Amino acid sequence: MSFETISVIGLGYIGLPTAAVFASKGKNVIGVDINVHAVETINRGDIHIVEPELGDVVREAVKAGHLRATTQAEAADAFLIAVPTPFMGDHQPDLSYVKAAALSIAPVLKAGDLVILESTSPVGATEQMAEWLAEARHDLRFPQHGDDCNVHIAYCPERVLPGKVMVELLENDRVIGGMTPACSARASDLYRIFLRGECVETNARTAEMCKLTENSFRDVNIAFANELSLICAEQGINVWELIALANRHPRVNILQPGPGVGGHCIAVDPWFIVAQNPDLARLIRVAREVNDAKPAWVLDQVKQQLAECLTASGKRANEVTIACFGLAFKPNIDDLRESPAMTVAHLIAEWHSGCTLVAEPHVSKIPTRLADEATLVSIEDALQQADILVMLVDHAQFRAIPMSQITQPWIVDTKGVWR
Ligand SMILES: NC(=O)c1ccc[n+]([C@@H]2O[C@H](COP(=O)([O-])OP(=O)(O)OC[C@H]3O[C@@H](n4cnc5c(N)ncnc54)[C@H](O)[C@@H]3O)[C@@H](O)[C@H]2O)c1
Repeated sequence: MSFETISVIGLGYIGLPTAAVFASKGKNVIGVDINVHAVETINRGDIHIVEPELGDVVREAVKAGHLRATTQAEAADAFLIAVPTPFMGDHQPDLSYVKAAALSIAPVLKAGDLVILESTSPVGATEQMAEWLAEARHDLRFPQHGDDCNVHIAYCPERVLPGKVMVELLENDRVIGGMTPACSARASDLYRIFLRGECVETNARTAEMCKLTENSFRDVNIAFANELSLICAEQGINVWELIALANRHPRVNILQPGPGVGGHCIAVDPWFIVAQNPDLARLIRVAREVNDAKPAWVLDQVKQQLAECLTASGKRANEVTIACFGLAFKPNIDDLRESPAMTVAHLIAEWHSGCTLVAEPHVSKIPTRLADEATLVSIEDALQQADILVMLVDHAQFRAIPMSQITQPWIVDTKGVWR
């Protein structure tokens, strides 16, 4: 059965690009979101998130009548759920958004439909979603008990890079985790509408674990680099030089340290594995702890630089200006969510009695969290006014600063830009 009408539930960083590419292939796409502002913006042909090239695709799709947004689920042939899956205070995954989304589509489901969960989820979440749907619709047969079903369900995680979503959505290989082989086959048919990468079929539990594994792999490897940076600081060794040398080994590829790990994926998803396997996931838990502890360590480095600055300059602490370079959670983007650079800037500004400046070329206004304690300035002003420089994000603009302009002897460089 072909997919003439496709519904995407959750029109955020993942759902909206997905809806837009299906629509660009001439499908009738109904986007559903509880956020009225998002729905109204999309229906005007605009976008409410920042992602290169997305605006053009959405504008065209809405203009051509292929994409429409609404707050209420409507009948469709396939449903893709891309709602948030945060963790709760105790690092347990919060599936309440997935449950609400599943229950919202249950009344409009019909025999022959396909339901795909795309949200990053703990192992077993797809089976749980199938249970919620089965409880809501006794008249339909779901795949819990094998291929004798008339609604197919699959888990298909997203692995796009923010900033390159419109390219990677089409190009990346896709893990297709059907609850049964027939579910996988049908989900592959759906993605092949736009996918140029390969559909690699497996079962739902493996696909769920695959997404968590990818981000845990990154987190553990960054934690290794971050731990090395602590050890090297103690031993008087330049960690950047060390890693470059070690990476000359043909089978060594150490990642780069930084002020911590941020964003809403790598810093979150490993906890889903830890929550389900508290006794077994020891390395994954420690990696999270190492990365989460890094901002406080950076603050300690700044405190040491301040002590040296006070001794050498004869100034009082409240006469010293500290400039932080960067707030985003990674280079060359404006996304400040879960950013360790934000955390470091906040820790510095909260502790320091003197002036704290922030240079962040990707934002035009100081974020609310820092508004009372720090001042947003240009790169030039930060370099001219600061006694202590703290490099937090290796934006291209910071890498382009000539070394001749770095005259301060007191530097904390978490990204190795000024090594
Ligand atoms: N952003 C990424 O780079 C990325 C990459 C891979 C996977 N993921 C995963 O994809 C999922 C979505 O992430 P995102 O970044 O798109 O989140 P997001 O916050 O940008 O978007 C989620 C959208 O879902 C909407 N929503 C919440 N509950 C809803 C409901 N019951 N019905 C309809 N809409 C609802 C919200 O209003 C929001 O617009 C998460 O599980 C995330 O971990 C994200």
